[in-house]
Amino acid sequence: MPTYLSNKTAIVTGAASGIGAATAKLLAQQGMHVVLADIQAEPLEQCRQQCADEGLSVAAYVTDVSDTDSIKALADFAEQTFGDIYVAFNNAGIAMHGVPMEEMRLQDWQWVIDVNIKSVVHGIHHILPRIRKHGQAAHFINTASIGGLQVNPNWLTGAYSMTKYAVLAMSEGLRNELAGTPVNVSVVCPGAVVTDFGSASSRPLRLGGPTQRPEQEFLTEALISVGVSPDFVARRIWQAMQNKEFFIFTDRAAVPVIEDRHQRILQAFKTADGFRAQNKI
Ligand SMILES: NC(=O)c1ccc[n+]([C@@H]2O[C@H](COP(=O)([O-])OP(=O)(O)OC[C@H]3O[C@@H](n4cnc5c(N)ncnc54)[C@H](O)[C@@H]3O)[C@@H](O)[C@H]2O)c1
Repeated sequence: MPTYLSNKTAIVTGAASGIGAATAKLLAQQGMHVVLADIQAEPLEQCRQQCADEGLSVAAYVTDVSDTDSIKALADFAEQTFGDIYVAFNNAGIAMHGVPMEEMRLQDWQWVIDVNIKSVVHGIHHILPRIRKHGQAAHFINTASIGGLQVNPNWLTGAYSMTKYAVLAMSEGLRNELAGTPVNVSVVCPGAVVTDFGSASSRPLRLGGPTQRPEQEFLTEALISVGVSPDFVARRIWQAMQNKEFFIFTDRAAVPVIEDRHQRILQAFKTADGFRAQNKI
């Protein structure tokens, strides 16, 4: 069924795998022209070919989201190939689970910050103004994580969650700043999803290249045992786009941890109230 997004252009980053690949395909099935962007050229081409074989309107562009020039070139490519951009899905991201922060290598701090945070900064800088320019209904969607709302005590996600808190903050800021404009902002906060997320196959050579560490296997197995499918997440995202939802969740598993965190924050305010009262402030 045609929608207001039929024949319009979407950019999806991290589109060679997992949530990005499933969502890119779904957007194309909904009649959009989709530019698939990813740093891994070979799987990216395979995804493009699979979509093309189904008769979907897609193009692929090898992109490093941590590189500002690369995102600018992606936006140029999308406009030149399919015209004005109506959906930007800033989804590419990497895992950094299972390592205590004091044991993390500096290259990994750099990698997780560069990919997970700078990707969204670059999207805001290079893609959002192009979406704003045409003035029609559009979507700017960032993938954070349920880890953007809490630090899971069992999964050693301090560094990863740090980046996803940043994505959440940027998304909330954009929602405030773009209220009343035709650009709807959403933030995807998935719980566990069965994807290639546990592998470090996209770790760039300049930071030491791909790794195979025990904690990556742990994450892969954990996702398989409790995760939902990327197709499910893609359908959830499409529904949320139609309803103009801001927070896009996929399951309730982290709710007790988030509630506990909020209780601790409120308790800390009560402690501050008591201190002010004692000091007659
Ligand atoms: N899988 C989960 O359980 C889960 C949970 C919460 C949030 N997320 C988030 O979902 C998003 C998608 O992850 P996924 O689970 O589909 O993982 P995935 O590994 O299957 O897909 C991520 C894709 O991003 C690409 N990528 C990595 N670095 C890049 C770079 N510098 N430039 C361009 N592309 C790059 C990878 O090549 C890969 O194709 C990520 O932001 C991740 O943090 C995943």
